Amino acid sequence: MDYAELIKMAFEARKYAYAPYSHFKVGAALCAENGKIYTGCNVENASFGATMCAERTAVFKAVSRGERDFKAIAIVGGLTEEERELSGYAYPCGMCRQVLSEFGKPDMKVIVARTAEDYKEFTLGELLPESFTL
Ligand code: THU
Repeated sequence: MDYAELIKMAFEARKYAYAPYSHFKVGAALCAENGKIYTGCNVENASFGATMCAERTAVFKAVSRGERDFKAIAIVGGLTEEERELSGYAYPCGMCRQVLSEFGKPDMKVIVARTAEDYKEFTLGELLPESFTL
């Protein structure tokens, strides 16, 4: 699949990040098995624990529209204000990995990107091996 397009959508979503406390803005673009894309950004709160990550925003948007099968997610994040180039890769936090694993299969692709061309590709199984399930 064309990760460049998915990464660009993550950068677009990052523009809406609300991060007045950490200044760390994150965008995510989640691709469902049917090809539909759901984006998300982080939304912080003065009560810090109420903050929501970009990845989970995207997953919850998708699931609340009836999607449950995902093939890839692209994630971009960093402190810089630059819209299309970041100094580093933003890896999903543990809680987001767990939420992704609720729906994504172990072979779901997780793309962390600095630019549309500069990215690293992992599987969810690599990032969260032996994940918890009921
Ligand atoms: N954040 C994400 O959006 N995704 C992650 O996987 C890790 C962290 C956000 C939460 C908070 O707004 C900021 O990054 C700094 O932790």
